[in-house]
Amino acid sequence: MAHPSEIDLTVYPDECDAFGHLNQASFLSLFERARWEMLARGPGMDVFTRAGTWPAVRKTTIDYHAAAFPGDVLRFHQVLTHRGRTSFTMRQTARRLGDDTLIATAEFVFVCVNRDGRPIPVPEEFGAFMSVRHDSGDARRLTVNGVNLAVESRGEGPAILFVHGYPFDRSIWRDQMESLDGYRRIAPDLRGMGQSDAPDLGYGMGIYADDLASLLDALGVNDVVLCGLSMGGYVLFEFLRRWRNRARGLVLIATRAEADSTEARRARDAAAASAREHGAASVADTMVPKVLAPSSQERAPELVTQVRNIMAATPVAGMVGALAAMRDRLDSTGLLPTLAGLPTLVLAGEEDLLIAPDAARRMASLIPNARLALIPGAGHIPPLERPSETTAEIREFLRIIG
Ligand code: MLT
Repeated sequence: MAHPSEIDLTVYPDECDAFGHLNQASFLSLFERARWEMLARGPGMDVFTRAGTWPAVRKTTIDYHAAAFPGDVLRFHQVLTHRGRTSFTMRQTARRLGDDTLIATAEFVFVCVNRDGRPIPVPEEFGAFMSVRHDSGDARRLTVNGVNLAVESRGEGPAILFVHGYPFDRSIWRDQMESLDGYRRIAPDLRGMGQSDAPDLGYGMGIYADDLASLLDALGVNDVVLCGLSMGGYVLFEFLRRWRNRARGLVLIATRAEADSTEARRARDAAAASAREHGAASVADTMVPKVLAPSSQERAPELVTQVRNIMAATPVAGMVGALAAMRDRLDSTGLLPTLAGLPTLVLAGEEDLLIAPDAARRMASLIPNARLALIPGAGHIPPLERPSETTAEIREFLRIIG
């Protein structure tokens, strides 16, 4: 049974062009129909008029990823990514049910206006409905540090916080979230990615770290084992600078301590310009072949689709923000020897093309008593490419630190 925020709509022949592709105008109306249908199943289509207001569209951004044809059933997923006083942003994705292909992603900014066209507050009932009833999967949404973050929390026991990289979301930790019984597993979507808010501005390693600390506060968690992949590791270095006393252990996956070189900084700006100009899907096309090990792409072609979908659904604002945050991050090499006493596991995929496993060897040699694990047959995303091997390493580390 579909989740309440998911609406399935069938593409009809009269909505398609001469070549049988769903046309642009019909696409817009399908997005709109999905939103109204969702309200009809929730607080009612008159949730706005009851409050004397109307949601006027102020901005629309649509990325078309693949064609849809008559008879296709499209699953529209609606998420509120930003809620201001009088405006809100809704992100919608459309996937074909048959083969889970991502067909389009769209972002709509609305302003609630009264009859005179003046902005008035977003109806409380609508905000509450979107925030509470329409969470996706096992996630709930919590407002911390001025943003609404999607977060999944499972199990009881000592807490472990999973922080994904760029441009991914919490779904890369699926195996670890499902398997690590005996621990409280917490996996948020960082601001700007997944189903969390994606403000236009306000990104930086310090801000991501503040978000995580506030999130732990909101969940009533004091100390935690920190586990970050790639950019997630950069965020954790910043977390450790600020709240070293909250860390019980550290797992660094496919990451590095060094800051960006001048050349790498320029490449971040070029990547941001390209994301702005060509959209998230083109970033995904460029990155997918680099993040998955060649052997993973051959062995598990479905991973290619999965990772491409995650990337292509990332809001451009979140991508641009993360690229600036990575460009400006501090060098954390000097921090490593100061982590003496903090049990640490450094893990990397042997076939990582983005951050060579040598970076892991260097970090492990600089952190007193760190364990090093290299995972064969994995590239830049070991938790997804080699889930059971990665989970086993983490489980063993957690067992040792007790
Ligand atoms: C990531 O996976 O988080 C990024 O690729 C890291 C980076 O680009 O430095």
